[in-house]
Amino acid sequence: MDKALLEATAAALVKPGKGILAADESNGTMTKRLEGVGIESSEEARRAYRANLFATPGCESAVSGVILYDETIRQTMDDGTLIPEYLNSRGIFPGIKVDTGTVEMSGCPGEVVTKGIDAEPENGWSNLDTRCKEYFEMGARFAKWRAVIKIDTTSGSSKPSMDCLTDNARALANYALICQQQGLVPIIEPEVLMEGAHDANTCAEVTSEILRQTFEECRKVGVHNPGALLKPNMVISGKDSNEQNSREHVAISTVECLTESVPHDVGGVVFLSGGQSDEEATDHLNRMNAMAVEHPWQLSYSYGRALQAAALEAWANEGAEASQVAFAHRAKMNSLARSGDWDISLE
Ligand code: G3H
Repeated sequence: MDKALLEATAAALVKPGKGILAADESNGTMTKRLEGVGIESSEEARRAYRANLFATPGCESAVSGVILYDETIRQTMDDGTLIPEYLNSRGIFPGIKVDTGTVEMSGCPGEVVTKGIDAEPENGWSNLDTRCKEYFEMGARFAKWRAVIKIDTTSGSSKPSMDCLTDNARALANYALICQQQGLVPIIEPEVLMEGAHDANTCAEVTSEILRQTFEECRKVGVHNPGALLKPNMVISGKDSNEQNSREHVAISTVECLTESVPHDVGGVVFLSGGQSDEEATDHLNRMNAMAVEHPWQLSYSYGRALQAAALEAWANEGAEASQVAFAHRAKMNSLARSGDWDISLE
């Protein structure tokens, strides 16, 4: 394992003022997003929208890396340049989603574990080790794997089960080690979903437990923490809960939860947006970075929807340039939030 390379990549990805664009929606998810704004999805429709996004003038000042999907890393910009080569030429690290989705857990109805370590010939996937080698050769320098944790405490249900947390924690650790052995910085993403009616305390408890278990498994298999990034959810009430905490409260409890549950030598923290509005996701990050306390890590972003929603809407309704303007604006707002310098008046 080349620890120096991994540490250098991780540090560059969370350089002050910068964060990650998550543009790694699977074809199924991207189809939903495009159809949501009235565009028929096709390989070319997905390429054209994303190539335009990546070509946004000046975005490299706010974007250190872009997470791609397998289809996209093999596609080209409008002028025929391969997308990973183009991103590298702008000083942006290409990254790659390497999980292959989720499967229902036997014995835990309604819960899922993320897969992608073993080959899936029926779906055209080689094993993770082989894919990491290929992606590295194509220019990727970091990877992403997302575990999905659902909270459901209604009518006698008690999700997540301990098995769900443990199996996902193990998979995250095994993935992280394989990536590091191939020179890719793993983004470790255990996402506790916002869907549900749970309160913020429940979110804090579950988040803390999955983080604790994940880093314990990472320790056991020998993951090099400074060469890995964590992509967590914020500590936030379920969307259907009547008790929504203030934004300041979300920021404080998120920082508290992470500081207690995440090893302080991890290479950096890049939050997911998880269904928050664009402005909420920016404001929460800004408040965390504006706190007087010193955090053990850089606190940054790896937003999908919160960086792309306005750009996608503009792509559908106003065209290429308007889409780039919308994306550049959100990227700038989140870049300012890296140092606590964002303000609502800038919106
Ligand atoms: O895995 C999830 C994405 O990378 C982040 O997406 O910011 O829309 O939650 P999101």
